[in-house]
Amino acid sequence: MSRHPLRTWMLTGALAGSLALSCTSEEPFPNVDELELLQSLHSPTRTPPKDPTNKYGDLPAAASLGQRLFKDPGLSGCGNISCQSCHDGEGRSVDTPKATGCEGQLTGRNPPSVLNSGYSTWFMWDGRADRLWNQALLPLLSTVEMASSPTLLRARLSELYAEDYRALFGKLPSEETDDNVLLANFGKAIAAYERTLVRNDATFDQDVIRFLEAVQAGKAESDPAYLGLKTFVRTGQCAACHKGPSLSDDQFHNIGVKDLSDSKRGVAEAAGKMLGWPFNSAGPYSDAPSGVESSRLQRLSSDLQEKGPELEGAYKTPTLRNVELTAPYMHTGELKTLEDVVELYNKGGEPAGNYAGAVSKTIKPLDLSKEEKQALVKVLKSMTGAAK
Ligand code: HEC
Ligand code: HEC
Repeated sequence: MSRHPLRTWMLTGALAGSLALSCTSEEPFPNVDELELLQSLHSPTRTPPKDPTNKYGDLPAAASLGQRLFKDPGLSGCGNISCQSCHDGEGRSVDTPKATGCEGQLTGRNPPSVLNSGYSTWFMWDGRADRLWNQALLPLLSTVEMASSPTLLRARLSELYAEDYRALFGKLPSEETDDNVLLANFGKAIAAYERTLVRNDATFDQDVIRFLEAVQAGKAESDPAYLGLKTFVRTGQCAACHKGPSLSDDQFHNIGVKDLSDSKRGVAEAAGKMLGWPFNSAGPYSDAPSGVESSRLQRLSSDLQEKGPELEGAYKTPTLRNVELTAPYMHTGELKTLEDVVELYNKGGEPAGNYAGAVSKTIKPLDLSKEEKQALVKVLKSMTGAAK
């Protein structure tokens, strides 16, 4: 009990009540705030919330066109790379730190899974897309990934998908003279497909429900999930950021992952560009440009001004759902296993100088015991959703 030198004192009642109150780690787990966090961790809705900026998002015809486009290497400039090339297998990612695009080029970062991507609100590790449909344009046009162009897209859509495209969007691809509308429509069909890639209902959800019942019954400590959930919520502070149904706060934080690359500034660099991007959710290609989406953009913009330094080297909190299926980890793909992830948090991130900016105040050395580390890894593994 090196972490709590006061513990034995308190148990013997030698401390004054006021002092005991200030030592929150001695309170029974969960306290009121922790209970609220635990209650937030429930399974997400069966289908992702509607995206008003994509009016095709829930149309089965859009999803089926999107599925075919997702798998079509003929959309790439090099002819052999599709979205699926880098988002494949059970985890819908790759098992190497970086992925390979056109002409053998390596991506700058680790591909996140596209499973459950319909629940997110920021996309890419640095948040440089704010909707699932506009995200799809980035890999299509990236010279490293698919190296495509509006001309190539129009030609391929005309060759293989002309009637399906017209049925959805009202014009043949060859009649769509505005490149940006063509691109946005492509993205909206892809997003409709990605919204169907849902994997929820994890053992974790059952454990949380049962644990909450045990809390009600005053039997929290004897529940098998006690140590894991206590480490996740209290000792490890994981739920400070990995909370809510998606196990993400959808915010950006610097947790001290080693990154000395040119793009190490993360959201601090990406956000400005995204805010001026014509394809963002407040732009002319959005189906709800003045909806709540635009207020999210305003908030990001004021965050950049008010807490700029905190956003240096900060990346999006990823969902932890299905995390066991998506090794390696972090935006760099540098950590091979969940055990490695726990070790990084345990030491409070890498030493300063290994990344842009400074680590978030929430990230501190944890001094976890071997049992706590094991329990935490078990919790992470329990977040895999039931296979469909
Ligand atoms: C060459 C590999 C490669 C290809 C091809 C590729 N991706 Fe990705 N994908 C990545 C990488 C790498 C990232 C992370 C990039 C970053 O954050 O800088 C990513 C990120 C994403 C994300 C964001 C997920 C999140 O949680 O933030 C989505 C969604 C996605 N890709 C969908 C697609 C779609 C749709 C296509 C095809 C149009 C595609 N990808 C093609 C490698 C690829
Ligand atoms: C301050 C907010 C914050 C806290 C606290 C936090 N995380 Fe994270 N987590 C993040 C961010 C941000 C990333 C992505 C960082 C990056 O790639 O640079 C991340 C990444 C991860 C990943 C990698 C996921 C992937 O797909 O690559 C795992 C696993 C993870 N966290 C688990 C945990 C655990 C376990 C704890 C508690 C010990 C924890 N996190 C505490 C914000 C947080």
